[in-house]
Amino acid sequence: MNANAQPTPPKSGHSICEDVELSGHIIDSLLLPKVLDEITSLGGEYQSQEIRIGHNRNDPSYVRLTVTAPTLPCLETILTAIGQHGAVPVQHHDCRLEVVDIEGAFPEGFYATTNERTEVRLNNAWIPVELQEMDCAISVDRVTRKARCVAMADVKQGEFIVVGRLGTRVFPVGRDVDQRHSFGFMNSTVSSEKPKNVTVREIAEQMRRAAHGTGKILVVAGPAVVHTGSRELLSWLIRDGFVNVLFAGNALAAHDIEQSFFGTSLGISMEHGGSTEEGHEHHLRTINRIRRLGSIRKAVDDGLLTQGIMYECIHNNVPYVLAGSIRDDGPLPDVITDTLVAQTKMRELVPGVTFCLMIATTLHSIAVGNLLPATVKTVCVDINPATVTKLADRGTFQSVGLVTDVEPFLRVLVRELGGPA
Ligand SMILES: NC(=O)c1ccc[n+]([C@@H]2O[C@H](COP(=O)([O-])OP(=O)(O)OC[C@H]3O[C@@H](n4cnc5c(N)ncnc54)[C@H](O)[C@@H]3O)[C@@H](O)[C@H]2O)c1
Repeated sequence: MNANAQPTPPKSGHSICEDVELSGHIIDSLLLPKVLDEITSLGGEYQSQEIRIGHNRNDPSYVRLTVTAPTLPCLETILTAIGQHGAVPVQHHDCRLEVVDIEGAFPEGFYATTNERTEVRLNNAWIPVELQEMDCAISVDRVTRKARCVAMADVKQGEFIVVGRLGTRVFPVGRDVDQRHSFGFMNSTVSSEKPKNVTVREIAEQMRRAAHGTGKILVVAGPAVVHTGSRELLSWLIRDGFVNVLFAGNALAAHDIEQSFFGTSLGISMEHGGSTEEGHEHHLRTINRIRRLGSIRKAVDDGLLTQGIMYECIHNNVPYVLAGSIRDDGPLPDVITDTLVAQTKMRELVPGVTFCLMIATTLHSIAVGNLLPATVKTVCVDINPATVTKLADRGTFQSVGLVTDVEPFLRVLVRELGGPA
């Protein structure tokens, strides 16, 4: 839809209306066309009251619209939808709060969060929502005047939860011009036909900035990192300070330690690439040996585990979460098999993360994508374009996809960061 198109006047019968405003970089980030499109496709109409378009690239623009709908529920639906793109009612209301009456469940009509920076209005002042995460609710402490996202399973009786969209506003990432420019390849589409070296160089630059700044780098990795013979590359990244937090599952850790103990990954020799006798048992024997010791750390402390991804995490005090899945053998004693507990542990480590690299795992990439605020620059590397697309479709739209084999990717990344060529 053309942002400059003349709106048609409201038809008779469309009598319920609300004025909304939208400001920032709403033209070049296509937020305005998206808002106008949402209004009409959801059965409403709009009339522009004021439009100010910035003259220069960095100038913000401003639009005030009257949104009209045939019914109040229809208007509510439209306002909720366009609110996700940053359109907020001109008449500011305080948010509505309802007390949690059942542990682990929100009141009906709770406001469902996005991963975008959000504020709620309390006693005529906007307050920021902390721990921003999608698919949660907003819990408000009226005494301390603090608001935070809370997951359904974690909500406690007596907490006050925002219901409805009144008194809430979101700030889509696209409105922040500095943010967009600091991640130049952010809006690139998923493709296997792009010059990888340029993209990997930009990823390396982002990681260098995060490592030398105050941000944390989170790496989410699947067992293909080990299967493809790339574990030395990931180990180097951990050793040289380019990984501050690691999220993975049983398989990455099990095959990493299998390589240390047996020189194989899923029974395949990392030396000659062929299968080894009874190699299919190696990961089971590995898991069993660690279970007998009690933890991966004990294997490091006892001098039994002296290299690899998990060794480097323990040796360099890099915290990790190994989240369990129904596929797991064993699992290793460090694996958190209660998924809600694993989510909580992951949430504890997410604050401060500014860059996230997801490599070769659909399950963990999407799970972690759900936990991250939209401000975290996210790169998803996978050989299957569907994984990268799925991540963006599930709401982690800030992710940049790189369709490639993990081994050449990590090799070029490590080289760009000054590691062994
Ligand atoms: N024996 C075990 O205990 C065992 C074995 C396998 C998986 N698991 C567990 O099951 C869960 C899901 O496992 P997952 O994350 O591996 O599976 P997944 O299917 O979620 O993801 C695997 C991803 O790796 C990608 N991939 C494969 N080869 C690649 C390559 N060379 N380069 C780039 N990408 C590549 C695939 O396209 C896919 O997206 C995890 O929790 C894992 O720990 C356990």
